[in-house]
Amino acid sequence: MNTTYIRIFDTTLRDGEQSPGATLTSNEKLEIARGLARMGVDVIEAGFPSASPDDLEGVRRIAQEVGNTPRGGAHPEGHLPPIICGLARAHKGDIDKAWEAVQHAARPRIHTFLATSPIHMKYKLRMDPEEVIERAAEMVAYAKQYCDDVEFSPEDAGRSDPEFLYLVLGEVIKAGATTLNIPDTVGYTTPDEFYRLIRGIIENTPGIENVIVSVHCHNDLGMATANTLAGLRAGARQAEVTINGIGERAGNTSLEEVVMALHTRRPVFGLETGIDTTQITRMSRMVSNYTGIPVQPNKAIVGANAFAHEAGIHQDGMLKHEATYEIMRPETVGLKQSSLVLGKHSGRHALKVRLAELGYELDQDELDTAFQRFKDLADKKKTVTDADLEALMTDQLYQPREFYSLDGLQVACGTMGMPTATVRLCGPDGQMHVQAAIGTGPVDAAYKAIDQIVQMPNTLLEYAVRAVTEGIDAIGEVSVRIQADNGSIPQRTSPQGGRPRPRTFGGHGAETDIIVASAKAYLSALNKLLAASGRFENP
Ligand code: KIV
Ligand code: ZN
Repeated sequence: MNTTYIRIFDTTLRDGEQSPGATLTSNEKLEIARGLARMGVDVIEAGFPSASPDDLEGVRRIAQEVGNTPRGGAHPEGHLPPIICGLARAHKGDIDKAWEAVQHAARPRIHTFLATSPIHMKYKLRMDPEEVIERAAEMVAYAKQYCDDVEFSPEDAGRSDPEFLYLVLGEVIKAGATTLNIPDTVGYTTPDEFYRLIRGIIENTPGIENVIVSVHCHNDLGMATANTLAGLRAGARQAEVTINGIGERAGNTSLEEVVMALHTRRPVFGLETGIDTTQITRMSRMVSNYTGIPVQPNKAIVGANAFAHEAGIHQDGMLKHEATYEIMRPETVGLKQSSLVLGKHSGRHALKVRLAELGYELDQDELDTAFQRFKDLADKKKTVTDADLEALMTDQLYQPREFYSLDGLQVACGTMGMPTATVRLCGPDGQMHVQAAIGTGPVDAAYKAIDQIVQMPNTLLEYAVRAVTEGIDAIGEVSVRIQADNGSIPQRTSPQGGRPRPRTFGGHGAETDIIVASAKAYLSALNKLLAASGRFENP
């Protein structure tokens, strides 16, 4: 059967990062962008450069490096680097900054937007519909002076008058827009309505045959994926998505759901993407670890239970034939069946080869560290699986710059006395700091001791622990999310306005000892908070 190509536009680093608590460091953003390119994403929306000088710098780094490196996946036009896109409100200043950041990419894109719904025009913009048409066309033309590739979004299109949309979109096409993205900004529409909206736009907008129509859905009523698929069936050829569906409020359409729906039900949709689906699990873990936002266990495709078959009747069916209860193979999304890969006597070369097979190309120093950690783990655990190696690598590679690192930890707990922790941290000046504290439990005691050393008042908003593999000797992964108490963290401008929200910081740690993993997770979140506070100089 003939299939039509759908461009995957990933906005994890922009809309995804707008979700509460998803603050990412610029190293983490770069690492995520590398992963997105490796999996074959067509367009990476790398950020909103006007938010802050740090945001601009983060987008610039991605444009420079990832925007000039061939991407993975399978694409009709080959392995060109991904398009790197920067978001800009319909203001000259924002567009200048977006260009400043993305111009370093081989294939840059400026994405500008202006609201078109009656409620947004009246209360947020305080503009007449005529002024909105004029401003939208003017700003698209302004962006076009810099860049051939200009995307325009009529914000809150889902609640806009379709006749008005045809007018605005017709004018921005004349002004040079090459992609028209139709956002259901507040996740209000149903799949039938969204299908009709997209069909109406395709049938009634002058010049639409010369541009790509895109869809961008939010999940407030849990219909983001269904709406996106409806929009693609109606003729849209770009889907805007995020890994794990993170994003404002209830989030955005998730990349893995759209990609796997198109892949698994290809005869129904007749649409295909260039995504290497085997990278999905790895990207999901990376984004969850960096943002500190855990994936719900029953989340489609990437949840811990997505391929688990607990009920006896299911297991019996599965043993007879996998397809009885499984519509996708776990390997297709890169979920490796836990298998013995290496043991205590495996050498450095065997580890290097196995890590390369898992997609980790390490330099000499990184391999030395990984090998030491692998040996420590192999001493504690009889079998070291791919999942263990993934956890070790996530922990080793994806940590923020460390101002404070854990050098030692000892706890006493149980029913006979006060839970006590003694921690030894290596500080920014290379000096050792030792502190003991008591708490309601060993984790609380360890966190109190760390607080007394680091002196950065904060509130712990979330703490979650999960086992990476089965068995009593499994590695435990801990995710935390914290928020600064004293308002000392510089605010960032949000592209869509609204009250500035306190920034929160996620951290992640993985160890066979969950108290040590907890201390590492807390320190990684604290290190991010310290970086944002400007107390110490960043590298
Ligand atoms: O949801 C939305 O409307 C957006 C726009 C900026 C495209 O994120
Ligand atoms: Zn959005």
